[in-house]
Amino acid sequence: MSTITIFGAGNIGSAVAGIAVKAGATVQVIDRNPDKASAAAEGVTGAKFGTAEIAGDIVVLALPFPAYDDVIAAYGDQLAGKTIVDPSNPIDFGTFDLALPKGAQSAAEYLAGKLPQSTIVKAFNTNFAATLAAGVIDGAPTVAQLASDDENAKKAVAAFIEGAGLKTVDAGPLKRAQYLEGYGALQIILGVTEQTPWTGGFKVVK
Ligand SMILES: NC(=O)c1ccc[n+]([C@@H]2O[C@H](COP(=O)([O-])OP(=O)(O)OC[C@H]3O[C@@H](n4cnc5c(N)ncnc54)[C@H](OP(=O)(O)O)[C@@H]3O)[C@@H](O)[C@H]2O)c1
Repeated sequence: MSTITIFGAGNIGSAVAGIAVKAGATVQVIDRNPDKASAAAEGVTGAKFGTAEIAGDIVVLALPFPAYDDVIAAYGDQLAGKTIVDPSNPIDFGTFDLALPKGAQSAAEYLAGKLPQSTIVKAFNTNFAATLAAGVIDGAPTVAQLASDDENAKKAVAAFIEGAGLKTVDAGPLKRAQYLEGYGALQIILGVTEQTPWTGGFKVVK
């Protein structure tokens, strides 16, 4: 099992850290607050954003999309050659419209443009954090939807998710991130308007 580095010790960072530990990976969590990073999940090694070196072969950016540029500025060189997992839903929380840099079709494709020497996998953005942490949604295993142009990278990400008892589906190439991000945005809108619970959302039946 791989070594996985997770940037961010918030809702998604902590949930993915728990999944990775359960799958048997060695897990490093990097956050601006190293104590918060260490507390993300039992068994992780916490480290401070900016000074820590990336230990993982797979790197999960569990940060708000606007923070991605900060990671690229601080860690762009170290991210070369690695598999980068993008769970972001790039939303303007004032309007709930997708908010992407000019010309970008999706956050994942924007990231691929900024990190041409890295391999990008879209994953987790269609799951609420609670359903990732629990590993179940409405009595069935939580299903993560993946998109990437690199089949081996997609398989490596699927392996650690499935190693923790969750399931995955393959949505196809990275350009499908456009659909996944629209799906993620809609799910958030239904949650914010209290039509669906944060412990639920869309359930993929496999
Ligand atoms: N929550 C969900 O259910 C959910 C579901 C699917 C996808 N997502 C996506 O997952 C990502 C993370 O969401 P979340 O809910 O986990 O957010 P969160 O709980 O607010 O955590 C965000 C993390 O990002 C860090 N951060 C913020 N700005 C940063 C910067 N400029 N530089 C370095 N670190 C920074 C924060 O660090 P500090 O501790 O230092 O503030 C915190 O650890 C987002 O892109 C979101 O769209 C979330």
